[in-house]
Amino acid sequence: KTITLIGAPIEEGSGRRGAGMGPTALRIAGIDTVLAELGHRVEDEGDIRPLPARDLSAHPGANNLQMVAAFARAIHDAVHDAARKGHFPLVLGGDHALSMGSVSGVARYADEIGRPLFVLWLDAHADFNSPATSPSGNMHGMPVAFFCGEAEFAPILPKERALVAPKRVYQVGIRSVDARERDEIAEHGVNVYDMRAVDEMGMANIMKQILEDVRTANGLLHVSLDVDFLDPEIAPGVGTTVPGGATFREAHLIMEMLCDSDLVSSLDLVELNPFLDDRGKSARILVELTASLFGRRILDRPTRSA
Ligand code: ARG
Ligand code: MN
Ligand code: MN
Ligand code: MN
Repeated sequence: KTITLIGAPIEEGSGRRGAGMGPTALRIAGIDTVLAELGHRVEDEGDIRPLPARDLSAHPGANNLQMVAAFARAIHDAVHDAARKGHFPLVLGGDHALSMGSVSGVARYADEIGRPLFVLWLDAHADFNSPATSPSGNMHGMPVAFFCGEAEFAPILPKERALVAPKRVYQVGIRSVDARERDEIAEHGVNVYDMRAVDEMGMANIMKQILEDVRTANGLLHVSLDVDFLDPEIAPGVGTTVPGGATFREAHLIMEMLCDSDLVSSLDLVELNPFLDDRGKSARILVELTASLFGRRILDRPTRSA
């Protein structure tokens, strides 16, 4: 594969500083070398430059709307361009608001080639708030509502942008949902496998169901991996930790099953906050998981001392 790395140092969608250092930490953890070692061609586009969205006015329910929109527009274009070239867009975040740009960018590409887009959302949170429902106003809690067409807030992207059908969105690992979000998700028909489902069904069965749906529809699959999907014990480098997250084994199994399926066409690595991390631990685990998604096998995994 040819993989295009797109650095998206956005932190304005989260309530704190630090996620803007995410792309640098992922590069220091060796994301490019690991992928190259697996035989892929890697093109690093460097970090995206937001063009402040002066056409938008400040919105009371959406913190830093102009900066979030600026990033979303730039990411949308970069992801769409990479996909159109036949490359695999890999977005190095940056907070989760960036997915407004990445998912809409691949949705546009999927529309152009006439295939349905599916989204696998690996997260502790549903991220289905809108300015009207959000308790925090932080836009990293709004991307799923946005690309499902719900968030009727300011025109971040052109009106004719493609949307994702909520029934093609699969959320796994969910364990922190706001009251209004719960109703919205149910109303829109998003597929939610919360932590209880993970415990009762097992990760392998959940993944089999999802991959079967994507394959049957001849769909493209976008994967969005929020660091807080993982248990804080193994990945502390994130501003919104929630106890009871996925284990390394569960996350690793997901990546291996995704790799075997060959259905994944784009990936976001989001919410890494190196300022809160423990000696690069969370950055390293993201790189490990990405390697598994791109073909690394347990049995030929090099042993490296941390
Ligand atoms: N639901 C909370 C909010 O809307 C937390 C969202 C956390 N999202 C994230 N991408 N870490 O503020
Ligand atoms: Mn998230
Ligand atoms: Mn989250
Ligand atoms: Mn609604």
